[in-house]
Amino acid sequence: MSEVTLFDKTFEPYLPESLIQEKIKELALQINKDYAGKKPLFIAILNGSFMFAADLFKSISLEAEICFIKLASYKGSKSTGNVVTSIGLDADLNQRHIIVLEDIIDTGKTLHEFLPQLTNQNPSSLKIAVLLHKPDATVYPIKIDYCCFSIPNRFVLGYGLDYDGYGRNLKEIYQLKGSE
Ligand code: XMP
Ligand code: MG
Repeated sequence: MSEVTLFDKTFEPYLPESLIQEKIKELALQINKDYAGKKPLFIAILNGSFMFAADLFKSISLEAEICFIKLASYKGSKSTGNVVTSIGLDADLNQRHIIVLEDIIDTGKTLHEFLPQLTNQNPSSLKIAVLLHKPDATVYPIKIDYCCFSIPNRFVLGYGLDYDGYGRNLKEIYQLKGSE
């Protein structure tokens, strides 16, 4: 893995593809155990979670469904603080076991604003699974049920995560070089 430069920023290798895949498989095995006999509905939050959701879902052996919602609060490498919904939720959540899939929890604002829209619909259960969590960035505490990696408060890129729309196709995760 070598450095990647996008626009004005340089990113250095952080989490290799093999480790990401290993953690996602472990997470899928745990969910397969925890939801044995149930038919969960996964709700993946676009755009960032599309690779995580696809790889995780391939290792789910339950009778499960998946749907997608698009939320965004980031512009460039800074959170704007406004969560915009641009594809709505069309599934019926009543009496369903819901697992929300998110690429990364940073301040927690996205899920803080979105989760009430789910709990309103009377699901049987609601859990959160994330690829990455930045505990030091927390502004809105969220109960995270499944997490692949807890990471420092640095901007990350790759494996679905972008810098102004680019870098999502990288198989590995990179972090902003020289940031503290
Ligand atoms: P909040 O602050 O609402 O942020 O928890 C969650 C959303 O912000 C995006 N995000 C990032 N995107 N690198 C990215 O490419 C990052 O380091 C980063 N931190 C937050 C992401 O879309 C997430 O859904
Ligand atoms: Mg996201």
